[in-house]
Amino acid sequence: MSARPAHLIDLLGLEREWVLELFAEADRLRAVRGTARAPRPLAGKTAALVFHKPSLRTRVSFTVGMHELGGDAVDLGAVEVSDTGRESVPDVAHVLSGMVDLIVVRTFRHSLVRALAEHATVPVINALTDQSHPCQILADLYTLWRMGRALDQMTVAWVGDGNNVLQSWLEAATLFGFTLRVAVPDGFEPDAGLFLEAERRSSGRVRRVRDPQEAVRGADVVYTDAWTSMGHEQEAGLRRVAFAGFTVNPAMMSHAKRDAVFMHCLPAHRGEEVVAEVIDGPQSIVVEEAGNRLHLQKALMVALVRPQACRRTRAAFVEPVPAD
Ligand code: CP
Ligand code: NVA
Repeated sequence: MSARPAHLIDLLGLEREWVLELFAEADRLRAVRGTARAPRPLAGKTAALVFHKPSLRTRVSFTVGMHELGGDAVDLGAVEVSDTGRESVPDVAHVLSGMVDLIVVRTFRHSLVRALAEHATVPVINALTDQSHPCQILADLYTLWRMGRALDQMTVAWVGDGNNVLQSWLEAATLFGFTLRVAVPDGFEPDAGLFLEAERRSSGRVRRVRDPQEAVRGADVVYTDAWTSMGHEQEAGLRRVAFAGFTVNPAMMSHAKRDAVFMHCLPAHRGEEVVAEVIDGPQSIVVEEAGNRLHLQKALMVALVRPQACRRTRAAFVEPVPAD
């Protein structure tokens, strides 16, 4: 049995075997979803959902996921939980740990998620920070795994902003050993330290490529994200100019493998980072990718909150998982 993390802050440090177990668990939960055999391993458990930025997919998948697993969710915002506000982060972490079983946080500064994890005695999940978006990339990898793609052998092309989503892809490449070619405009690179670390750990399989078409050449996966992430809205005009030539269009996709897929974490901006013909076309798997957030995060919540229920999920269909 692979070592299980206490929290999900980033992908670096996770064991590949544990992530593959998570995918299998997500598949098991998915197979019985909505049936009488659907297990409720989180009955009596509550998650605090802290959102400091807008969210459709993440908020809904954690809320619905918690309900489907038999638990409850309580919504909190910046008024209740912040690193600049009403009370100290250690106090918030201690109090929440006494009342809920899981803390899910979407915020700006990564340091807030780290501080909550440091002081909480319940698991903390990073639901996106300015630095990373690990739940998204776990669901992306789960999507590709379900399609039978070889996660250790594929080539992923990133075209666009050097943002939080890319930074989690850098860690994923280190974890699974796939090739990741990164095409970002000058001035919009990912964090230099994170990139160098990924380059070093991947023995050159992670590399920056100047020309987006070269990044895409022969790729199995073409991935892009918004040119302007949440919190950078005032730079939107400047970014539209800087990102000229980085739109994923059919001409760019034609350089990828014939069976390449197009992925995007969403929300998308048709006519900016991708044209409608691609994101709404046959190679796009964005809707399935978004839907998999639910299945993957259900498995993640069970793995962190009631890991003993995980391996018994199959048995739990016929016999209830014993109480803690
Ligand atoms: N991809 C993603 O995290 O979407 P939301 O911002 O809507 O949660
Ligand atoms: N990079 C985007 C991802 C949204 C899910 C953002 O941070 O806004």
